[in-house]
Amino acid sequence: MFFSKKKIHEIDMSNLPKHIGIIMDGNGRWAKKRGMPRSAGHSAGADSLKKIITEANNLGIGYITVYAFSTENWKRPKEEVDYLMNLLLNYLRNAEKTLSGENVVIRAIGSRKGLSDEICKQIDKTEKFTENNTGIVMNIALNYGGREEIVHATKEIATIVKNGEMDIKDIDDKVFDSHLYTANQPDVDLLIRTSGEQRLSNFMLWQVSYAEMWFTDKLWPDFKPRDLHQAIIDFQNRGRRFGGV
Ligand code: IPE
Ligand code: IPE
Ligand code: MG
Repeated sequence: MFFSKKKIHEIDMSNLPKHIGIIMDGNGRWAKKRGMPRSAGHSAGADSLKKIITEANNLGIGYITVYAFSTENWKRPKEEVDYLMNLLLNYLRNAEKTLSGENVVIRAIGSRKGLSDEICKQIDKTEKFTENNTGIVMNIALNYGGREEIVHATKEIATIVKNGEMDIKDIDDKVFDSHLYTANQPDVDLLIRTSGEQRLSNFMLWQVSYAEMWFTDKLWPDFKPRDLHQAIIDFQNRGRRFGGV
């Protein structure tokens, strides 16, 4: 296996984060700095993503969730939304050839509401194509919002209770968790956000409950495997107490 840069030796391979979340932010500013259209930033961001997934998979990370399009991103100009949707469609298509070859399991999490039939079909196809892979599980958060996910789970559970298949007293955090898009996956334990912003922007509100947060001023297209290494090293040097002493 090839690992870029020397930082890698500082990583304790027996104490890797189980689930990394990434809020990939700053594509627009990256393009603006170069006098390019925002779309060029998104395209560069997609290249960055490919490299980071490959690296996380090589490291042996089990799960990674990347924020690609939020339920709030529909507020952007139609032209930008269309560009992003097309980029995601092509990303999913190419992933079948490239990332699947690297054994990556690709899943899309989020609402299907508002997505085109073409993209929904491609999601199904890519998920099916990669479901038996045994490498990293990559969740692409696409038309994803943490609140939408919680409301969605609540509706499912309410329906089960209404049908008399479960008692209210049996609802606990395990049951709730099993109705999220990330059912059966570990909680996010390392959350990375690029571009200097320090907010959640509706990302994985339930799953980041005890996540270590790691921020960098670097814009997403500039985020390199060595930055991922640094985030993991810092994560490993934090004292995680989970409410204890
Ligand atoms: C993140 O980059 C990508 C998406 C939200 C799709 P932005 O497009 O938010 O970039 P900035 O924040 O405007 O620089
Ligand atoms: C969060 O970034 C969404 C994604 C990275 C897909 P935004 O750029 O949309 O977040 P805000 O608007 O700065 O909170
Ligand atoms: Mg942004």
